[in-house]
Amino acid sequence: MDVQWRHVAVAVRGKQILEPCSGQLQKGRMTALMGPSGSGKSTLLNCLREVVKHSGEVRYDGARFCPELRQAIGFTEQDDVVIPQLTVRQSLRFLSDLRFGVGTEESVARVEEVMAKLRLVRIADSVIGEAGAGQRISGGERRRLCIARELLAEPRLLICDEPTSGLDSTMADQVVASMRDLCNSGKVSVIASIHQPSTNIFERFDDLILLREGQVLYSGPAQSAEALFTSRGIARNPSQSVSEFLMEILVLGEAEEACRLPPETRQELVARVREQAAALKPLPPPSPVLGGLRAYDAPFSRQLSVLTRRQRVLLAGQVFTKVSTMQNIGLMLVAALLWVQLALTEQEVVSRWGLCLWMLGTWMFFPLFGSIGTFAANRNVLEKELGMGCYSLMAFYISRTILLIPIELAWPAVWTTGVFWISNANPDPLAFVCALALVFLSFCVFQGIGLAISASAMPPSYASTVSMIMITFFFGWSGFFADMSHLPAWLGWLPQLNAFKYGVELMVRILLPDDMSLPCAAAEEAAAAAAMPEGCLLLEDGSWALSGGAARKRHKITADPLVSILVLIGTLLVFRCLAFLLLRRDLHAVVHGAGSAQSLPASSGEPQAEDAPSANGEGAGDSEGARKLSPEAASQDAHCSV
Ligand SMILES: Nc1ncnc2c1ncn2[C@@H]1O[C@H](COP(=O)(O)OP(=O)(O)OP(=O)(O)O)[C@@H](O)[C@H]1O
Ligand SMILES: [Mg+2]
Repeated sequence: MDVQWRHVAVAVRGKQILEPCSGQLQKGRMTALMGPSGSGKSTLLNCLREVVKHSGEVRYDGARFCPELRQAIGFTEQDDVVIPQLTVRQSLRFLSDLRFGVGTEESVARVEEVMAKLRLVRIADSVIGEAGAGQRISGGERRRLCIARELLAEPRLLICDEPTSGLDSTMADQVVASMRDLCNSGKVSVIASIHQPSTNIFERFDDLILLREGQVLYSGPAQSAEALFTSRGIARNPSQSVSEFLMEILVLGEAEEACRLPPETRQELVARVREQAAALKPLPPPSPVLGGLRAYDAPFSRQLSVLTRRQRVLLAGQVFTKVSTMQNIGLMLVAALLWVQLALTEQEVVSRWGLCLWMLGTWMFFPLFGSIGTFAANRNVLEKELGMGCYSLMAFYISRTILLIPIELAWPAVWTTGVFWISNANPDPLAFVCALALVFLSFCVFQGIGLAISASAMPPSYASTVSMIMITFFFGWSGFFADMSHLPAWLGWLPQLNAFKYGVELMVRILLPDDMSLPCAAAEEAAAAAAMPEGCLLLEDGSWALSGGAARKRHKITADPLVSILVLIGTLLVFRCLAFLLLRRDLHAVVHGAGSAQSLPASSGEPQAEDAPSANGEGAGDSEGARKLSPEAASQDAHCSV
């Protein structure tokens, strides 16, 4: 893919981190981007894949950026983006299955081929891991895995941010060689920022851009760079390689004694690049969206199945651990033994009511609190894959939050079964089934609230504070601990929206159904009916008993069960939808691109196509990173044409 950019510049909080520059990448050519740390390499690369707000414009085979292009652009970050819990093969198979079909011969073969190319076969089944964790692959192996992933996607534009950092020279050479192979197909353009490349690696690049403090000092054929500096009296030491020589010029600041680039030479070089930029043809009107691109390679059903399979592996690793087994069995025993073998008598009504509160309280607290970090886990991978156009946000959301529910319900099922039967909550098996269903519903409702908090992307300390406030609200405003009738009218509706209250009321109804008859213990001792506990009635056989309905009345459980179920389902739907909307808002820029912030007037005075509105409709100049450039600034535009 050919890429052209004009007047691309980035400013953050008033500081110019990339001066306006223009340039182009050509199919079949590989461009190196060199410069000292902080010179703006990553910033320029991020502009080229539209993930940072910038002024100016970038065109891809003549078209403006659109979400469909994400699939055609491969990118390896400076910091490796991987899921540490997966093995190398699992990571690659995920992408391959999405692209070539689940488990197809082609999918398997492509993974093996790319692993062989990047020498990953030996560690194919090793867990990626992370620093500080037990098992892990090395930094260089992680880096190669990231490159392998991009090669697998067969991009038309490959952007690599320091692909060779952390690799030994042989491995670095192999990585660059595989990028070169991709480029040699003639359809792909490659740009890579690179630190101190060996001569071998340097020679593999066709073109070079040199950056220093956000300014382009050179752009053009890689082989001509040395001559440019030599012609200005800056000679290479014979023991230095060309890349070492260039880096030495760029790194040493003017304040340093050994500085090799006098200020006047630097200004002359900048002026030269500006002249080249001014001579560049302005961009023609943008062509329509590129042909042959679809929003996603894989159909929605395949996205769902591949994502769910990966999420299942990840979740199973968290749900069925020693710690979670200990935690859930421990919590189950604490509750079950507290209410062990309750008698079916009037005296145990209060205990049963307490058991209901405990059951619903447990499956309100844990799912809500436990899900506030859901979307933060492996967030960089999610952003990366959405940015690559691997799958839609909807497919991710459904697979992560709905299709995995069976795994997440495993512990609530074990807990409820244990507590229900050990406590003898209700001997009726149908009551057990209803109690289990209610616990599952409660779990899903409160997990949805936690997911919405997680999707709002608030910092973790805020998220746990909001959760604690919500949990306290659900408990306190249930009407079980305080009389709600004293509330002013404008607050009176609030307890009516409390899903926890309705859950408890339903559970009390399940444990104390209408047809249950609880003998009143006082019947034998009390001589007079007046001494009977509230609600006990004299039966035909002369004994006294309390009906389930009368027992519930004692605790003011009066809500219509249908209303309770509807409120729970309503809360479930509202928060699950809210979570998706918040997540979509949060990841909007990742999915649709950060967008060009501002088109610029022509520096040469020629009419420019960039004056048209931005392709993705993003507003201009409204971010910290965006800056409206003056004509003077535009005329200082650097040329990065290669
Ligand atoms: N979001 C940001 N906010 C403020 N400053 C930023 C931001 N991003 C980058 N910078 C600054 O912009 C300059 C260029 O950063 P950039 O990451 O592009 O450098 P780089 O050439 O990739 O460096 P390195 O080789 O160390 O990766 C740096 O001085 C950096 O501190
Ligand atoms: Mg960088």
